[in-house]
Amino acid sequence: MDLEKAAKYIANAEYVIAFTGAGISAESGIPTFRGKGGLWEKYDPNEYATVKALEKHPEKVWQLYVEIFNLIKRSQPNPAHIALRQLENLGLLKSIITQNIDDLHERAGSKRVIKIHGNYDVMRCDNCGYKEKIESISTDFFPKCPRCGEYMRPDIVLFGEKLPEHELALAFDEASKADLVLVVGTSGVVMPAAIIPYIVRDNGGIIIEVNYEPSAVTNIANVSLIGKAGEILPKLVEIVKGLI
Ligand code: OAD
Repeated sequence: MDLEKAAKYIANAEYVIAFTGAGISAESGIPTFRGKGGLWEKYDPNEYATVKALEKHPEKVWQLYVEIFNLIKRSQPNPAHIALRQLENLGLLKSIITQNIDDLHERAGSKRVIKIHGNYDVMRCDNCGYKEKIESISTDFFPKCPRCGEYMRPDIVLFGEKLPEHELALAFDEASKADLVLVVGTSGVVMPAAIIPYIVRDNGGIIIEVNYEPSAVTNIANVSLIGKAGEILPKLVEIVKGLI
């Protein structure tokens, strides 16, 4: 019933965007951050994922980074990523704004993916601005910049850091154009990303949430689809196909 209601909203919308979080990649074997079995249960984010941690004990940030890097490298897109690509191919989904640093949307074939928390496989040098894509980890600590010799760091957003300006502006622009946002697998608590569904709502748009359990977005969602994204999204896209 709710699936059909959501599908009708999507089929009738003019500009659909998706806003995704760690939950969409959970079925690919990448743990979420919060909740049972989440990464923050094993790693205290204050110790492993802040700008201060990077200054004080970079080896801890490196340890967490290597674990995430290897998990992502071993993973594959799941039916939820593929369903979003199909929605884009149908001409309905205009872009995906993701908080995820993995590349599973891109590997599933989605074309317009806005990465507001960075990319797991890019190293950057804050000293000279050099950036490089890496295929594997070949050092046991942050690699040195080939241009200036300083240590590089992963091109990902740590707690206490600003989001990449260009991507954030693009994300807010997309949200302001959207008349429907599909919010998938995010707890919706991390700012400023968490504003995105509110931008759509404040412009009179529709919010459809797909989450394993109720989240911070549930109380503003027009439809809340509770369950696994990898099961719900393919069903939703099938129904949408029958309506357009
Ligand atoms: P969270 O770990 O906070 O939330 C993941 C959400 O996914 C939860 O609401 C789960 O209920 C839901 N979930 C889990 N498995 C699911 C499944 N199979 N299908 C559907 N939903 C599922 O992750 P995010 O909201 O992405 O920031 O976290 C936001 C940011 O906090 C991350 O980008 C990261 C973290 O600190 C940075 O790295 C800057």
